[in-house]
Amino acid sequence: MRLWHTKTVWEKLAREDAMWAVLTDPAKDRNRWQVDEFFATGRATVDADMAYLSTQLPTLAKRDALDFGCGVGRLSQALAPHFDRVTGLDVAAAMIEQANQHNRHGERVTYVHNPAGHLRQFADHSFDFVYSVITLQHIPASLQRGYLREFLRVCRPGGAVFFQLVTTEPDKRWRFSWYPPTMWMRIRRYFRRAATIDPTMTMNAVPRAEASNLLEQAGGRIVDIQPYGAAGELESWSYLVTKD
Ligand SMILES: C[S@@+](CC[C@H](N)C(=O)[O-])C[C@H]1O[C@@H](n2cnc3c(N)ncnc32)[C@H](O)[C@@H]1O
Repeated sequence: MRLWHTKTVWEKLAREDAMWAVLTDPAKDRNRWQVDEFFATGRATVDADMAYLSTQLPTLAKRDALDFGCGVGRLSQALAPHFDRVTGLDVAAAMIEQANQHNRHGERVTYVHNPAGHLRQFADHSFDFVYSVITLQHIPASLQRGYLREFLRVCRPGGAVFFQLVTTEPDKRWRFSWYPPTMWMRIRRYFRRAATIDPTMTMNAVPRAEASNLLEQAGGRIVDIQPYGAAGELESWSYLVTKD
């Protein structure tokens, strides 16, 4: 249900204004992003992240990269000069369709639709580098945990996983109320949410310590965790993880 809801929201956002859904600059709503300007933001982000990566893991192999939550390919296109092959993956078919239209690297960049809570369409050890920025934060926390395990499964030994995560909950109001929701209230809220597709993106956190434990249990070795400003006022960190 949670995945279906996420997918439905992003299909809708992608059909209305995909570039704005990816980068919600108030000055660019109603299809006002210029394509060149939009993709230039991707190059700036990827070039900065690659420069950081080369200081942390200078010998990383650069054959296959996975861009998880690729949207219209803003970052996948920017990864292409750094890797032999790039696979962009997204839950929304409407994003993948537009990513293909914007592909400037032929067969070196491929886009795949993955409406699933796992990455089983890829074998173990498929990628040297798994990358995901401003995506996990929009995915319910229970699904995020599953994808993090999958990132390590598809990463090759000696490869790296780099992703950005929000670590503080945007809204904890009910926790401070005198009357926390009863089971009945929760059930009612669950079905109300399921019945109405609210086309706004949600923000979801996984606490830092929990993410670190999970990554280590999945066979990862954390190289570095840094503040990564990508989620407005919410606390957001980048994780760089390798697999021995
Ligand atoms: C804010 S956009 C960021 C896109 C891209 N990472 C970028 O920075 O240009 C978030 C993307 O994550 C995708 N997404 C959301 N849930 C997903 C999931 N469960 N699996 C894969 N992609 C997902 C959305 O469809 C959307 O394209």
